[in-house]
Amino acid sequence: MTTLAIDNIGQLVTNDPSLGEGPLGIVRDAALVIDGNRIAAVESAGAQADARIDAAGRAVIPGFVDSHTHLVFAGDRADEFAARMAGERYAAGGIRVTTDATRAASTEELTQLTERRRREGIRAGITHVEIKSGYGLETDSEARSCEVAARFTDDVTFLGAHVVPAEYQDRPDDYVWLVTGDMLAACAPYSKWIDVFCEEGAFDAEQSRAVLEAGAAAGLGLRVHANQLGEGPGVQLAVEMGAASADHCTYLSDADIEALAGGDTVATFLPATDFSTREQYPDGRRAIDAGVSVALATNTNPGSSYTTSMSFCIALAVRDMRMTADEALQAATLGGARALRRDDIGHLSPGARADVAILDAPSHAHLVYRPGVPLIAATITAGELAWSDPDSRLGHSP
Ligand code: NIG
Repeated sequence: MTTLAIDNIGQLVTNDPSLGEGPLGIVRDAALVIDGNRIAAVESAGAQADARIDAAGRAVIPGFVDSHTHLVFAGDRADEFAARMAGERYAAGGIRVTTDATRAASTEELTQLTERRRREGIRAGITHVEIKSGYGLETDSEARSCEVAARFTDDVTFLGAHVVPAEYQDRPDDYVWLVTGDMLAACAPYSKWIDVFCEEGAFDAEQSRAVLEAGAAAGLGLRVHANQLGEGPGVQLAVEMGAASADHCTYLSDADIEALAGGDTVATFLPATDFSTREQYPDGRRAIDAGVSVALATNTNPGSSYTTSMSFCIALAVRDMRMTADEALQAATLGGARALRRDDIGHLSPGARADVAILDAPSHAHLVYRPGVPLIAATITAGELAWSDPDSRLGHSP
C-alpha cells in the first residue's frame, strides 16, 4: 500500500486526547501519515512516506461529518426565503413545493443535482454525509430518493414521514399506514436509518412513535426532527426510543435537557436553519453544561437551510449559541460521527478512515474568526485527495 504524509502541519486537531493537548488532542509541528484509506500514524514534522503534501504550517482537522442533510431534491424556494426575510414565518408546508419538483425530475437529473451538492460539500471540507429522502412522499419516489442517496453515502435515512402530502391531507393516518407499510418495505433495503418530523404541521407524538416503531422493527436505526419550531414531544420521544439523534433542538425545556443528558441520544443543532428561518438559536452552552452530547450539521435543504458550509454553522454556534471554537469544531466532526453511531470517522487516530481537511489558516479558530471566507485548502476522503484549492499552492510530491 502507498503511504502519504501530510507534513509540516502547524496545528493538527486529532480529536484524540491520547495523541495531544486537551479534548481536541492538538499536536503542533506534526505530520499525519496515511496508509491506503486509513490513518497510520501521527508523527513529528519530517515524516517519511511514498508521497508527501507540504502543509507549510497550516492547520489540519478531521473532515467534517455532516450528520443531517436532505441533498436529494429538485426545484428552488428562493421566493419563500425572500418572503420570510420580509416577515413570514417558516412552516412545514413548504416541503410540498419541493415534493412536486422532485417527483417531476428524472432519476438522472436527481442524481446530478445530488452529486453537484455533494461536490460543493467536499469543497467545504465535508468528508462524510448522512442523506435523507423526504421529498418524494409516495412509495416509488421515496425509494428512488433512497436509491440515489445510497450512491453517495452508506448513511441513508428514510424520511417518508417528512410531511403529509397534499393527496393525504384529510387522512393523515392513512399516510402513516403507507409510510409504515409499503413505503418502508421499498425504502429499507437502501437505508440505515428512519426519521420523522415530529412537529406541529407535520406528525404528532403518536404518529411519530408509530413510524419509529415500524422502522425499528425493520432493522433501521432511529433519528427524529425534534423541537424545531417550538417545545414539543419530539426530544423526549427520541430519548425514550433510543434514537441516535434528536435534530434541531432549537427549543429545549428543562425536562428535554434532563432527558438528553440522561440518555444516549445526541442533540444535533442546525443553526444555519435558525439563521434562514429567523428562529431563535438553540442554547448550545446550556445543553453542553448539562452534559448533553452535541453535534452540528448543515441541514442542506431547499427550504430551511440551503447551505453546505459547515464553517458557517461553526461560526454561528460560537457567535450565537455560546459554544467555544473548540466545542463547535468537535461537534462538527466527532459529534457528527457520534450522531451517526460511527467510531471510524470524526477523529484522526491510527486506524480511523483517512478523512482530513487542510485549512488555509494557521489554526482552526480561523473558521470562526474569518466568517464567510472559504478556508478549505484541500479535502482528503478515505486517503484520496478529493479536492484542493489551486490558489492555496499546497506542495505535493511526487
Ligand atoms: O430539517 N424540518 C423539516 N425538514 C427540513 C426542512 C425541509 C424544507 O423546508 O424543505 C429541516 O429543516
